[in-house]
Amino acid sequence: SGLIALDEGFANTGGCQSSITFINGEEGILRYRGYAIEELCQKSSFLEVAWLLIYGELPSKDQRDKFVSDIVRHSMVDEDIRKFYEAFPRTAHPMALLSSVICSLSTYYQDELDINDEDAVYMTIVRLISKITTLAAYAYKKSIGQPFVYPDNSLDYASNFMHMLFSVPCESYEVQPAIAKALDQLFILHADHEQNCSATTVRVVGSSEANLFACIAAGICALWGPLHGGANQKVIEMLMNIQRDGGDSQKYLAKAKDKSDPFRLMGFGHRVYKNFDPRAKIIKASCDEILNNIGVNDPLLKIAKELEEAALSDEYFASRKLYPNVDFYSGIIYRAIGFPTNMFTVLFAIGRLPGWIAQWREMLKNPGRKIARPRQIYTGPNLREFVDAENRT
Ligand code: CMC
Repeated sequence: SGLIALDEGFANTGGCQSSITFINGEEGILRYRGYAIEELCQKSSFLEVAWLLIYGELPSKDQRDKFVSDIVRHSMVDEDIRKFYEAFPRTAHPMALLSSVICSLSTYYQDELDINDEDAVYMTIVRLISKITTLAAYAYKKSIGQPFVYPDNSLDYASNFMHMLFSVPCESYEVQPAIAKALDQLFILHADHEQNCSATTVRVVGSSEANLFACIAAGICALWGPLHGGANQKVIEMLMNIQRDGGDSQKYLAKAKDKSDPFRLMGFGHRVYKNFDPRAKIIKASCDEILNNIGVNDPLLKIAKELEEAALSDEYFASRKLYPNVDFYSGIIYRAIGFPTNMFTVLFAIGRLPGWIAQWREMLKNPGRKIARPRQIYTGPNLREFVDAENRT
């Protein structure tokens, strides 16, 4: 064990070489395949970015049209899958439902699970990106006891998702183009973030040559945790608590600084960004605009801004280089659009899906790849003799 370097949380360990996403944590730079995140948000679309991440280049017009039309055409799920939702409790968290049904897709496409067959992999990629919105919308409908709404293939990706969530059989939800665009941009912002916890999970599970549905289900589970994607839900819950407490953000800052209190300021801090998170910057800037657009005046936005200001001028946060991350303001936009709080991490999962697929594909295409199998430093007892139950103290 003397030869093993211990690196808790892999903070200083490179697990792979990657040409997908570039992050410069000191300068707050994020690029997908060399393109600045700011430019992609302005000029591209989520499905185009998905192609870019997975296949390495922006798609030609024909490639993009085919990819989009394939995704649109595969948005339905097998009717039997609805029965799974009947069996889940209504109070279940949608991330639990999503990971379960995504994994169960591997039971429906058994002939296409060969990870070495490019055509089968393409179909799996299309099915995943397409069906994740339908399955996520079903999870929401289940939780509020409403009938499921089928996809409408005449709508773009984000609009179709909102239609399935918010339409009811007696009334179609009218999607405002500006809101659909805002959601599409949020998906782009979440689409990849190099070797984060869920991407690493996908790579690790994939390294055993498990099928892609299984790998993505594992990624969804990793994302669910409050220190990762689950933080977006926790941020809003924290802001609501502050509101209930009369807006006393100082009390929450004090709790976050208290080392005997496990509470952390949710939506603050990042393993790589030590100056600012460029995604948070973009989201904060669009927050006011989107809320104005929808005509929402959310008091939580004011609380969030006050909390951010107070934290940034506090020695504890400044000395540890803790800044708002992607999750700090995204929930305020989701809330304004009408998404319930427990769906926020599902939105993150939909956005992150192309990144997971890209990381999985890159891992498999590496000719030198090995099964992920870290070592350990054993700290348990040395060899000892078994004691019969009656002689144990
Ligand atoms: N509130 C209070 N203290 C914090 C926070 C926070 N949000 N984040 C880090 N710290 C402190 C931490 O206690 C430690 O202090 P000390 O040096 O005195 O022991 C120091 O800052 C370094 O923290 P760390 O835990 O070693 O940093 P990490 O790189 O292991 O963790 C993190 C990164 C994101 C898990 C952490 O900052 C955190 O828990 N943040 C809150 C949860 C959150 O917002 N997560 C979303 C991350 S971005 C999107 C995503 O990945 O999904």
